[in-house]
Order: sequence, then structure tokens, then C-alpha cells
Amino acid sequence: MAVAVYPGSFDPVTLGHMDIIERTAKMMDRVIIGVLKNNSKTPLFSVEERVKMLESITAHLSNVEVQSFDGLLVDFVHQKHADVIVRGLRAITDFEYELQMAQTNRVIAPDVDTIFLTTNLKYSYLSSSIVKEIAYYRGDIGEFLHPEVAEQVRRKLNASVQPDAG
Ligand code: PNS
Repeated sequence: MAVAVYPGSFDPVTLGHMDIIERTAKMMDRVIIGVLKNNSKTPLFSVEERVKMLESITAHLSNVEVQSFDGLLVDFVHQKHADVIVRGLRAITDFEYELQMAQTNRVIAPDVDTIFLTTNLKYSYLSSSIVKEIAYYRGDIGEFLHPEVAEQVRRKLNASVQPDAG
């Protein structure tokens, strides 16, 4: 049985992430989405909120589950008895960071491999940070996020910060 861990911050999950999740779910027997808990960046959504959103929008994928994790990714992979880590590659600019992570993970856990899926061209420009910036300035985020997630982002921003009037 092939088990994959798809790790990330998912703050928030974008349609680019969803594309990777759906394609991985077709290739693997089981996919565990690992949501990083103690991120050094201050997230817009709490880990519980990110897990909930992911659970909701992946509910139609019977072999996909969502869990949060803390600490080293390879420890989470071992704990889940997973075979591989899956990461998406959008552009060459992702490559250096992704290669560094995959190689470091292989040094500390030689039994854990990372496989990369190239992102659908449609989403190759997309990142959670850019989406948050557009949302912050009240731009239309409907193109980039699942409708449920887009609604949560709008709500969160309405409840917190307002863009500078000046
Ligand atoms: O979506 P992101 O923020 O690019 O995901 C990065 C993530 C969560 C995969 C990475 O930060 C991670 O694995 N963090 C856990 C800590 C760890 O294992 N660090 C060593 C990796 S070289």
C-alpha cells in the first residue's frame, strides 16, 4: 500500500494545492495532508482552521485525510508509516528550496523519498501569500480558492485588519 504525505502550511489552501492533492489521490492508496503547526510566520488561520477547511474541501476524496503536525516532517512521515513526501513544483524558483528540503530530509531519514509533481500551468503563478495580499486589498480571490475557502478568507479579513484608508 503506497502512502504519501503532502505537507505544507496551507494558509490558506489554494486551487494549486487542490490540484496536487487530487492528482496524488489518484496515484496513491492513501494521502495524508500534513498541516504544519508551529510555523515561524504568523499564519492568517490557526492550524485547526486550516485542517477544517482542508477536510471540508477534500471530503469527496475517500483516500485523503488531514492531520496537523509539529516538529520534523520526516518524524511525521515515520509516525504515519508513509512511503513518500509529495511536493508541488510551480517554477524553477521553487526548485532550489525544494531540492534543499528533499536532500536534507534524505540525509536525516534515508528511507524517506520526496516526489515532485509539476503544478498545473493554470496555477503556476499561484501562492497563498499572493492570494492573501489580493484579499487584503479587497481584490477578487474567487479565481484562486475553493468558494468555501474564499469565504473564510473574506470573513477573517473583515473581522481583523482593514486596509489603510490613506
Ligand atoms: O507550504 P510550505 O510552507 O512551503 O511547507 C513547508 C514545509 C511544511 C513542508 C516545511 O517547512 C517543513 O517540512 N517543516 C517541518 C520542519 C522540518 O522538517 N524542517 C526540515 C525540512 S528540511
